[in-house]
Order: sequence, then C-alpha cells, then structure tokens
Amino acid sequence: MSKKRVFVTQRIPEKGIKLLKKYFQVKVYPKDQVIPRKELLREVKQCDALLSLLTEKIDAEVLNANPKLKVVSNYAVGYDNIDVKAATAKGIPVCNTPGVLENAVAEHTFALLLALCKRIAEADQYVRAGKYKRWEPMLLLGTELEGKTIGIIGLGRIGAGVAERARKGMGVNVLYHDIKRNKQFEKEYQAKFVSLSELLKKSDFVSLHVPLLPSTHHLIGKKELAMMKKTAYLINTSRGPVIDEKALVQALQKKQIAGAGLDVYEQEPRLTPGLTKLKNVILTPHTASATIEARTAMSELAAQNIIDVLQGRKAKFTVNPEVYNRKQK
Ligand code: DGY
Repeated sequence: MSKKRVFVTQRIPEKGIKLLKKYFQVKVYPKDQVIPRKELLREVKQCDALLSLLTEKIDAEVLNANPKLKVVSNYAVGYDNIDVKAATAKGIPVCNTPGVLENAVAEHTFALLLALCKRIAEADQYVRAGKYKRWEPMLLLGTELEGKTIGIIGLGRIGAGVAERARKGMGVNVLYHDIKRNKQFEKEYQAKFVSLSELLKKSDFVSLHVPLLPSTHHLIGKKELAMMKKTAYLINTSRGPVIDEKALVQALQKKQIAGAGLDVYEQEPRLTPGLTKLKNVILTPHTASATIEARTAMSELAAQNIIDVLQGRKAKFTVNPEVYNRKQK
C-alpha cells in the first residue's frame, strides 16, 4: 500500500517533519514565501493531510479541492485563517497547537511592555546615533512596573501566563476581563474580574489575549481607547483585527494613550500608515511565539495531530471534535 501524503505549506522546524516522514510521504513547499493560492489548491488535491500556517486562508474552496482530504493541522494555536464550519460540514478535523507556546507569548508580552516602559528602542537608537555623550539625570526617563495595574483581556492560557508573571514576578496588580469568571485564578493572583470599561479606565497596561472572532473584531476602537488613561500602554500579541488600527494610530498621534507594543496587525503584513513614524510604539513582526522551544514543540504537535488522524485516532488538539462522533455513527 502506498504511503499517505502530507503537504506542509512552508518549512517548519525539522523535528515535526522528521516525525511525519516516519509514516508518510511528506512534501514541503520549498520557497521562502507564502504559498501562492494556485499552488496551494494544486497541492491540496494531492494530499491526505494539510499542515497549514496562519498565513494561508483555508476556506471552502481549499477544503472542497480534495474530497479525500482527511485533516487540516494548523501550525498555530489560533485558527481564524480556517473556515472551521466548512471543515466540520465536510467531516474534516481541524487541529491546532495549544499548550506549547504560552511561555513564549507571555514572555514576549513582557518584552514589549518592558521595552515601552524602559524606552529601550529609543535608547538603543540614541546610542547608535552617537548621541550618548554623558550621564544625564533627565535622560530617557521611563516608568516602573511594580505597583501598577495590568488589565488582561482574555484569560486563556496566555492571558493567565501574563497575569502570573505580572503578579508574582513584577508586583503588578491584575484586573481581568473575560466571557467567564475564574474564581480560582482570582484567589491565586489576587486578581479582580471587571467589566471591559472598568478595566480600560483603571489599567496602566492593557494586554490583549483573545482569539479573533466576530465578537472580538475591533474590540478596542476609538471609544475604548478614549477610556484608557493618558499614561497607559496597550499591548497586543493576540490578533491584529482585535484593534481598530486606524483609531489606534490616531490615539497615539494625539498622545491619548502613552504608547503601544504590537506584535500583530490588522492587515498583516501591511501596517496602517503613520504607525512606523510613531516613537511611542514598539513593533515586532508576529514573532511572539518565535522561540526555538515553542516553534519546535509546535512542529511536533502539528505533526502528531496529523499522525493521529491518518492512523485512525482522534487528534488531541482538535477544534471541531464533533467531527469524530459523526464519523462513528
Ligand atoms: C498562534 O499560534 O496563533 C500564534 O499567533 C503564532 O505565533
């Protein structure tokens, strides 16, 4: 019997590829770019499993391209690039990679926050530009974290990881907002559950950790930015469209808030005009999960999801597990 085929839409850490190669015939898109749509459609027709990235839109057209497609394994915890409803209708499991990138993203959230508070990018540019001539009492004054308040929007694994580091590592008070309350978490981190508006009004740092859903699209817009303190920083390591980026640029230009640390953008990789001109922002290219540890573990998980499904088991991390029950009928 010929081996089942897996198509991987871009090079990922070798560990996952090696794992897949033990059982299947594996093809990895060889170019260092987002796979063109036409090529993706062509490749999907020839594979049993697709290992996709968040840069590819896996919609009904892709899913319908191959009636034999058995699984889509996304190399990410977020799966807003996939039409899960269409996949479910076809009985295709959609898998993701939770549980292995929370440290990386929570640490990156702090990297952005500390860089803003300590004005690291400005300081670095100052030194490189040869402006550093002497120690000065008033040079590049920043702000401390201890004793301040962080408002965490979305208390999933990453939001909780940020809260833990804030409370236990930095002495920062924690407010949070989520669709559901977590009393155990409140006890452990002396955290307070508040409404979104209270969180925005009271926080010195606001950090976003929600998935992109119709209900979270533009969760932070003009009205919400106007509620924030003038001294507050906004951090986004979730998904770009959670913020109305145009409204954010305007708020930053008017110094309505103190600054923003962004890893994700509304129209990735395009940026809203004006964003890069601002001094009070730190911008990273969607690299919050980009650690060797996290990306390697993600490759293993994404591969294992495929192995499980192609070998007739339920993958541990399936976002539409109802497809398995249906198959058993
Ligand atoms: C994810 O896993 O959803 C991240 O955005 C990838 O960095």
